[in-house]
Amino acid sequence: MANIINDDIIEKVHDSSDLVNIVSEYLSLKKTGSNYIGLCPFHNEKTPSFTVSETKQLFHCFGCGEGGDVISFIMKIENLSFVEAVKFLADRQGIPLGESKKIDKKIISEKEKIYRINKEAARFYYYNLINNEKPLRYLESRNINKKVLNQFGLGYAKNSWDSIYKHLKGKGYNEEYIEKAGLIGRRKDNTGYYDKFRNRLMFPIIDTKGRIIGFGGRVLDNSMPKYVNSQDTLVFTKGNNLYGLNLVKKYSDRKRIILVEGYMDVISLFNNGINYSVASLGTAFTQNQAKLLKRYGKEVYICYDSDKAGTNATVRVLEILTKEGVKPKVIVLPPGQDPDDFINANGLKEFEKLLDKTLNYVEYKIFINKQKYDLSDIEGKIKFTKEIAKTLGDLKSPIEKDVYIDKISEETGISKEAIQKEILGKNYSQDRRFYKDKYINTRYRNNKNKIMPIKIVLESAHLTAEKTLIKLMIKNRNYYDIIKKYLAKEDFLNYECYALANIIFDKYENNDQLLGLNSSVILEELKVEDNIDPLIINEIMDKDIDFLPEDKVKLIEDLIGTIKYSKLKMERKDIIKEIQRIESKKDKDEGDVGKFKSLCLKLTELDKELKSHI
Ligand code: UTP
Ligand code: MN
Repeated sequence: MANIINDDIIEKVHDSSDLVNIVSEYLSLKKTGSNYIGLCPFHNEKTPSFTVSETKQLFHCFGCGEGGDVISFIMKIENLSFVEAVKFLADRQGIPLGESKKIDKKIISEKEKIYRINKEAARFYYYNLINNEKPLRYLESRNINKKVLNQFGLGYAKNSWDSIYKHLKGKGYNEEYIEKAGLIGRRKDNTGYYDKFRNRLMFPIIDTKGRIIGFGGRVLDNSMPKYVNSQDTLVFTKGNNLYGLNLVKKYSDRKRIILVEGYMDVISLFNNGINYSVASLGTAFTQNQAKLLKRYGKEVYICYDSDKAGTNATVRVLEILTKEGVKPKVIVLPPGQDPDDFINANGLKEFEKLLDKTLNYVEYKIFINKQKYDLSDIEGKIKFTKEIAKTLGDLKSPIEKDVYIDKISEETGISKEAIQKEILGKNYSQDRRFYKDKYINTRYRNNKNKIMPIKIVLESAHLTAEKTLIKLMIKNRNYYDIIKKYLAKEDFLNYECYALANIIFDKYENNDQLLGLNSSVILEELKVEDNIDPLIINEIMDKDIDFLPEDKVKLIEDLIGTIKYSKLKMERKDIIKEIQRIESKKDKDEGDVGKFKSLCLKLTELDKELKSHI
């Protein structure tokens, strides 16, 4: 049972399921440019922000942040586990599971041919390397010894347009398959083929069964591109493999596994006695690679280059691994270095010391965001806290979450409640559960000379609509001119939105020249004593509008429609409460009866209006 879902099946499911087709069965999609859009099935919305990329076979909702591939879409929409979702799709596409699967003989034999071609190519490249001074000297300059050269089966592709082509043809291989293996390409003018790897140090990519599935090739100087990798082929899917995994399987005790960025990092670590590192293959880290790490190391470490790209990629990997239920640790290198640089300069002992100073997901986020934001400054503190809140939202353990909320609150002075709220706000489904049915009242209160609404909890879609309208008004006066036809500033029920609307309406009305508003001007006007939640303000002022359909007037109308609908529902709730109150009264007088009747009438009217909104 456990092995029914193997990589082969996952691969087949991916290859045979078209995300656009599958999503279309659940919602209607419209083509816009190269993507498709529709109403998100994972949160309530009236303006589509759910996009599907046909070329990438990925979906993403700009409204609630859900995203992923076909398997994660099915997991979410059908509420299935990973294995169940794969079975669901396999079933749908007629892919047989388990032993009884019919083996596609043609594909198997094509794959076999490609493996054989790759093996012969690797042999040829190896032979070229050990007989060629230039690449050997290069390896020496990088401290790679002969033993490691052999263990990794390194090679050299000569500086020639047809050397591998001729060699493999001479061995009797068909050019169609040499091309399918990704070693040669067809010339544009169709006059023949050319070698894809020329004048490069060659790194065979070997799977855990010992088969050569592809190659990476590095230049011997500073020319570009530094690396060329085999394209994905019948036997090679970059996102499903890790460089070096064959040696980890062979040598490592699987206590630990280290994920690094590059071929040379794996080789260098191995050269220095670390036989448990692997590299992602020149593409963004994938969920399937996360599964491999989980399988091959009890403890998973990430040691990417200590530069901006490496830091960003580390965060991505942390997110993916956390989703996979792994608790990865980050090895932090001195600025600008990669594992290869570090171990060559400092040796194994120093590298092992780093293993004792690792950071977990939250610690790493705190570490990098402390460098990014100035915590002595209020705006810096807010941005910092928002970033960390995002991460805390991913933590499954409430205890762990609590520990960090305390820590962040202590460091920034922002209240634990506000941080908690920020975390809740991040996840729409939690958000919805939290806000639903919690509408309190729509009365306003007097606050120093100004009338401010009391803090009420709005339905999430309503709140988002208010925030978006505020953003639009700040951005462009034209939007303000449209919006003010429908809404007065008092119509904004969220406390912070109302405060901003107050300033925005004021500014535009007093200066008809203004084309848009500067956020710093607005921030200046906000009064601290009004008990404003800075996190909400910051969210409105800071985030750009993620998604704007072509027809902005339609978007505005939709948003206003959302607010009206939500208000009608709130009113309905109030009426029902009042009706219940009168009903439960023991001694009803005439006034009560009259009121009761008029409330019932109002309720029918409201219901009619509500219906017309759907
Ligand atoms: P790096 O540029 O960090 O190279 O790319 P490196 O591994 O440190 O290599 P050396 O030390 O300069 O020899 C990291 C990885 O990104 C992929 C390769 O897999 C590389 O190992 N990459 C990089 C490419 O696929 N193409 C490129 O042009 C560059
Ligand atoms: Mn390097």
